[in-house]
Amino acid sequence: MFEGIFSYSILKRAVDKGLVEIHLHNIRDYAANKHRRVDDYAFGHGAGMVMMIQPIADLIEKLRKERSYDEVIYLSPDGEIFGQPAANRLSTLQNIILLCGHYKGIDERIREHYITMEVSIGDYVLSGGELAAALITDSVVRLIPGVLGDETSALSDSFQDGLLSPPVYTRPADYNGWKVPEILLSGDEKKINEWLMEKAIERTRQRRPEMLQENDNPLL
Ligand code: ADE
Repeated sequence: MFEGIFSYSILKRAVDKGLVEIHLHNIRDYAANKHRRVDDYAFGHGAGMVMMIQPIADLIEKLRKERSYDEVIYLSPDGEIFGQPAANRLSTLQNIILLCGHYKGIDERIREHYITMEVSIGDYVLSGGELAAALITDSVVRLIPGVLGDETSALSDSFQDGLLSPPVYTRPADYNGWKVPEILLSGDEKKINEWLMEKAIERTRQRRPEMLQENDNPLL
């Protein structure tokens, strides 16, 4: 599931340039039983299969012997909803473990004793945490200095300044009569920046008005 995502485009470039290391671990490789089982029935009720403590604990213990971790994150719909502020913070850390759950979840003792942060990518249930982990990896890695070139700088992303992005255009300036706004062709940098800010605010007000209320956005 991860190999495709991590071997294209910006993530691949970041790995190739040595700006980030991504290690994948299959929890099944740490199962102590001969059938390599990593799940078992929930104690006490028919909740479904639960990921067992031993393979996960052994893997985390092994990793912690190799290096120290700033966060051990469990991907779960119960977690805090992921957003740009969390991506920004995670991009400044050295080492992170992303633990993907499956089935009905992981033995609660893992959460109590190893997990430092629980993250959800939205109020819906995925069949496992892998897609959430890939999404978080993408959003965090692209913020690491040197990963994006100037032309794709993360600073002008939607959300980075608490606003959605303004509209963008490229050549041709006139496509069958559909014209690019005149101001963008004017060369007047000050006016263009004012226009971009105005459009960003307008778009945010129309589509995500609650963002303008959040944290007393200092740009407004
Ligand atoms: N695992 C299952 N659903 C999830 C979600 N919404 N976010 C993160 N991890 C998950």
